[in-house]
Amino acid sequence: MVKLLIRDANSSDKIPILKFCKNTFSWGDYIEHVWNFWLSEGSLFLAQKQNPVGICHAFYSNDQIWIEGIRINPNFRRQNIASKLVKHAEIIGKEKNLSFSFMLIDTENSVSLSMAKSLNYKIFETWNFYSLTPKTNSNFKVGFEKSFNRELYSHYVNSWRWLPIDDQTLESLYLENRIIKSSISGQNSFAILNSSKHFEKTLIVTLFSNSNDSVLEILSFLQNYSIENNYERIQI
Ligand SMILES: CC(C)(COP(=O)(O)OP(=O)(O)OC[C@H]1O[C@@H](n2cnc3c(N)ncnc32)[C@H](O)[C@@H]1OP(=O)(O)O)[C@@H](O)C(=O)NCCC(=O)NCCS
Repeated sequence: MVKLLIRDANSSDKIPILKFCKNTFSWGDYIEHVWNFWLSEGSLFLAQKQNPVGICHAFYSNDQIWIEGIRINPNFRRQNIASKLVKHAEIIGKEKNLSFSFMLIDTENSVSLSMAKSLNYKIFETWNFYSLTPKTNSNFKVGFEKSFNRELYSHYVNSWRWLPIDDQTLESLYLENRIIKSSISGQNSFAILNSSKHFEKTLIVTLFSNSNDSVLEILSFLQNYSIENNYERIQI
């Protein structure tokens, strides 16, 4: 039996990996759009037998590992390969003294949920995903926020990663007017705006909702903001 090797991916791995990362899900796959970016970021791990059979990318920040893009060639599944890739990413995280490891899994991806469970991951949060169409609106009661409470809202979404809002991030979010707030009848809702790094003209929004009325104001603002800033898609 050929031994499994876990190593860093390099540019020549792209073609053999993309061969089995095209129809992963009913809607296809996104690996081809992120491959170059992940390779340049580093920590793109690859499992190899005779040929590459799997990948996973890790993003190390603050006190956490964000594990993403686990893909195993369908002919090599159930051989513990994904588990070994994840453990490899975790060992590097431990060497960096990080305390947490997260991954984002679709609630309907039962195989991946079983894998995460078998690796002792627990469900931490459940997110809802919405999309919104850009549209010209006016009269929304929304302002830019400059005193955001990180104790209440500690993380935000950046290109599908759930990342901690550290001092530096908060500073740039303020500077770039990327935190918005709507306050209606004493109830505040907030949103953090980001451009997708991988998909053109896509606005990615983290929404912290505390009342329907204030969220409606934010949605109206987002639609208009997207028209004015040339976004074609809004993902919340
Ligand atoms: C999910 C995926 C990465 C798992 O890869 P894998 O190498 O087959 O997983 P492993 O062999 O390490 O499995 C570890 C454990 O997960 C669970 N598991 C894996 N596949 C399973 C399946 N088809 N049914 C039930 N449980 C499963 C089992 O508990 C397994 O341990 P066991 O074999 O000792 O029972 C792989 O199926 C895949 O590439 N799927 C498509 C892409 C995807 O969904 N990626 C994850 C996105 S979050």
